[in-house]
Amino acid sequence: ESSVEVDLSQIKPGQAIKGIFRKQPVFLRNLTPHEVAEADKVSVSSLRDPQSLAERTKPGKENWLITMGVCTHLGCVPLGAGEGEVKGEFGGYFCPCHGSHYDTAARIRKGPAPKNLEVPAYEFTSDTVVKIG
Ligand code: FES
Repeated sequence: ESSVEVDLSQIKPGQAIKGIFRKQPVFLRNLTPHEVAEADKVSVSSLRDPQSLAERTKPGKENWLITMGVCTHLGCVPLGAGEGEVKGEFGGYFCPCHGSHYDTAARIRKGPAPKNLEVPAYEFTSDTVVKIG
C-alpha cells in the first residue's frame, strides 16, 4: 500500500497526464471551464452510473479530475490523456478496445463499460500537489 505524490503545476487547462498508482495508470486532468460546464449540465439521474462532477472531485478543485486510467469494461487503458484530441464523443476519454465513451467527468456515456472511471482516494497536500492513496 504505497501512495504517490504528483505535481500538477505544469498541467494546463485542457491537458491531462498519466501517472502510475499501484501499478495501474491514473489520469490527472485539468478541465477547462467549458469542460466543467459540459459535465455540470448533464442530468445526473440520466447517467448509467449516476454521479455529479462535484462528487468526483474536491470542493474548490472541481477542475482537477483524477481517475484511474482503467476502462471499467475489461480493463484497457482509455485514450484522451496525452493523445491529443482522441477523447471520444463526449469529450472525456475513449476506450478503443470495444468503444466505451467517457465524458468530461470520466463518466460512462456510451459503449459497454458499466461504471465510470474509478476515482481513487486522494488529497491535495498543497495547492498544486496531490497525494493519491
Ligand atoms: Fe474498454 Fe472494453 S475494455 S470498452
